[in-house]
Amino acid sequence: MNRMTATPPAEASVSPAAPAIALNDLTMRFGAGTETPVLAVDRVSFSLAPGEFVSLVGPSGCGKTTILNLLTGLLHEEHEGDVRVLGKKPRSGNPDIAYMLARDSLLPWRTALGNAAFGMEVRGVARPERQARALELLKQVGLGDFADKYPKALSHGMRQRCALARTFALDSTVLLMDEPFGALDAQTKLTLEDVLMDLWSAHRKTVVFVTHDLAEAIALSDRVIVMSARPGRMIADVPVDLPRPRSVRKLQTDHRFHDLYAQLWGLLEQGVTNDE
Ligand SMILES: Nc1ncnc2c1ncn2[C@@H]1O[C@H](COP(=O)(O)OP(=O)(O)OP(=O)(O)O)[C@@H](O)[C@H]1O
Ligand SMILES: [Mg+2]
Repeated sequence: MNRMTATPPAEASVSPAAPAIALNDLTMRFGAGTETPVLAVDRVSFSLAPGEFVSLVGPSGCGKTTILNLLTGLLHEEHEGDVRVLGKKPRSGNPDIAYMLARDSLLPWRTALGNAAFGMEVRGVARPERQARALELLKQVGLGDFADKYPKALSHGMRQRCALARTFALDSTVLLMDEPFGALDAQTKLTLEDVLMDLWSAHRKTVVFVTHDLAEAIALSDRVIVMSARPGRMIADVPVDLPRPRSVRKLQTDHRFHDLYAQLWGLLEQGVTNDE
């Protein structure tokens, strides 16, 4: 594995924070014991410090969603190796984790406010508190004037903003995001990436962000983990040492951004042919 880890700051070596997420030699095989087992993830190890934003990139089928599903405790198939979220083995329904997918999955019979508050309602947050927090988050994603509108009256990008508001309103320590902007047009995507950066800067969650868009991965992340084609192995862990706060739009004209893009693209190409 190609480790391109930045030199840690001096204070980090004195008292390293316990990782928020830690995968140690994770191997995941679907259909173990059948005639056609599928080795999806092969000895993957990485960790995230609290508040870190890390993207996971790699070819389709290399196990990115599988890794997120394992972290949520949604996958009950056997795996080898150790997976920890905030020091504990993953379990489903863990309030420390929020999961956001490419489809907005809003409830059509609820308003934007009702949707943004839904996750909190499930978790038993009192009505006045969840309404206030949901409205605040809707304002932060630019939907303050649409709180009483139903999803059918919102564009796709607006629905994804609403889903972002719902995700952040949960106030979970860890966010897992699986191509959340993958189905959006380029311009809406840039806008939502900036919205996500603002929210992340304000709330400092630990984020694992899966994407096929290298520019998006660089613009958002502290590090980008590159995986090979299935079985997914780690090819590289690349630090993104671009200063923050970042404007995703302005980065497009920064040569360091383009250098990183070329580096990541080269690594991905190196990993597309991977013999099982
Ligand atoms: N529940 C399952 N049962 C059997 N095989 C599965 C299951 N989930 C995933 N797989 C297999 O595991 C491999 C990894 O799938 P996964 O969905 O994690 O890939 P991915 O990296 O998220 O791909 P994409 O970029 O297309 O979303 C694939 O070969 C897939 O067929
Ligand atoms: Mg996937």
